[in-house]
Amino acid sequence: MTSHLNILTTKAQVTAGGATAALPVVRPVEGNDAVAVGTLRQQTGLVTYDPGFTNTACAASSITYIDGDQGILRYRGYPIEQLAEHSTFLETAYLLIYGELPDATTLHNFSARVNRHTLVPENFRSFLAAFPQSSHPMSLMASAMSALGTFYPETLDPMDDDAVDLATVLLLAKVRTITSYLQRSLVGRPLMYPDYSRGYVEDFLRMTFAEPYAPWDPDPVIVAAMDKLLILHADHEQNCSTATVRIVGSSNANVYSSVAAGVNALSGPSHGGANEAVLLMLQNLSESGDTVESFMKKVKDKTAGVRLMGFGHRVYKSYDPRAAIVKSHADAVLARLGKRDKLLDMALGLEEIALNDDYFIERKLYPNVDFYTGLIYQAIGFKPLMFTPLFALGRMPGWIAQWREMIRDPEMRIGRPRQIYMGHPERQYPVP
Ligand code: ACO
Repeated sequence: MTSHLNILTTKAQVTAGGATAALPVVRPVEGNDAVAVGTLRQQTGLVTYDPGFTNTACAASSITYIDGDQGILRYRGYPIEQLAEHSTFLETAYLLIYGELPDATTLHNFSARVNRHTLVPENFRSFLAAFPQSSHPMSLMASAMSALGTFYPETLDPMDDDAVDLATVLLLAKVRTITSYLQRSLVGRPLMYPDYSRGYVEDFLRMTFAEPYAPWDPDPVIVAAMDKLLILHADHEQNCSTATVRIVGSSNANVYSSVAAGVNALSGPSHGGANEAVLLMLQNLSESGDTVESFMKKVKDKTAGVRLMGFGHRVYKSYDPRAAIVKSHADAVLARLGKRDKLLDMALGLEEIALNDDYFIERKLYPNVDFYTGLIYQAIGFKPLMFTPLFALGRMPGWIAQWREMIRDPEMRIGRPRQIYMGHPERQYPVP
C-alpha cells in the first residue's frame, strides 16, 4: 500500500490455518481505524466475506463524514445543520466538488457557467418523448444521464481535467432541466425553456410549474425550502448509489455513465425510492380505514411483510440529522401552502408510536430523511413519481464529487469483489 493514508505502526494480526498475517491499520481523521485486508489472501489464503459491506470501507474519502451513532453529517467538515441554514444548493455543490466554499466571485462565475448550460439540445426533447407514457421517471432519468454523454463527446475523457470540469457543469445544469421535463411529461404540459436570469432552484421551479402563456412569480418560502431539501440530499458518503457510481467509474467509464448507474441504484425502494413509498404507505393507510395502531402491529409482525417506510438506516442508529431538519420545516412549509393535512398527522402519529415502541427502540430504527420529504414535495405540487428524481437532482453534486475523487485516487483500482462459491463442484456434461 503506497500512501497518502495515515498508516499506523501497529499491525492487526490474523491467525488461521497455521499462518499469521500482519495487516496494516489505517487511521482516518475521524471514525474507526480500518484494517487493510488487501494482502490477507496472499499471507493466509483467506478472503473476507461481508455481504452488504456492513463492515468494509471501499474508499478513503475527504468529502463527507457521518457518525451514525451520534447523528452527525458533515460535508467537507461543515455540519449539515449550518449548511442547510446558511448555504445555497449551488454553493454546497461547489463545496462538495472542489473542497472549499467559494468566495463571492467564484460562486458568481460558477453559477453563471451552470446557468449558461441549462438548455438541453433540442433533439433531446424528442429522445425523452420516445419513451412510453407509463415509464417511471427514474428510468427516463437514468437513460437521460447516459444519453447526455453522447451529445458532448469532448467531455468524456476521465483523465482530462478541463473535460471533467465541463462535464461537471453540464451535468449540474442539464439535470435540472431534465428533472423539470419529467414532471411536465407526467402531467402533459409543454416543456419550458430556461430563463438565465433566475437562480438555480427558482428557475427549476419555474420550468416545472409555470405555464408558457402566463407570468410566474417565485414564492421565496418554497424556493428556500426546495433549496434546503436539495442541500440535505447532496451527499451521503458511501451509500448504495454512490458506491455504485464509484464502482462503475473505477472501470474508467465516463462520468455520465457512472451517474446514470447511480440513478438506477437510487431508484430502489430500500434507497431513494423510499420517499415515494412513504407517501404511498400513508395514502394506503388513510384509504384502508386501518388505524395507525393496527398498521404498526402489522409492521412488527414480520409475517405480514410490511415495513414502516422512511424508518431505519444502515448507518444512523440514533437519528438521521437530515430528518430532524426536514421535520422542523415540514410544518411551516405545509402551513404556508395551506396543505397541513391528515397525512402529515398520520406520519406524526406513526413516528410518535415508533419512537416509544420497544420493537423500534431495540433495533435503533428512527425516521430517515425520506419520512417527511414526500409530504413537502407533494404540497409543492410534485407528483409522487417525481420524489425519487428530486432526490437524484439533489444527489448529483455528491455523485460527481465522489466520482472525481475516485478517478484521481492513487489507490484506485477497478472494483472487483470476490465471492464465496456455493455452486456445484466440477461435473461432466452428459454426453449421450
Ligand atoms: N420497518 C420495520 N422493521 C424494520 C425496518 C422498518 N422500516 N427497518 C429495519 N427493520 C428491522 C428488520 O426487520 C430487522 O429486524 P430483525 O433484526 O428482527 O430481523 C432489523 O430492523 C434490521 O434491519 P435490516 O434490514 O437488517 O437493516 P439494514 O441496515 O440492512 O437496512 C434499511 C436499512 C434498508 C434502510 C431498512 O431500515 C429499511 O428497509 N427501511 C425502510 C426503507 C427506507 O426507508 N429506506 C430509506 C433509507 S434512507 C435512504 O436511502 C436515503
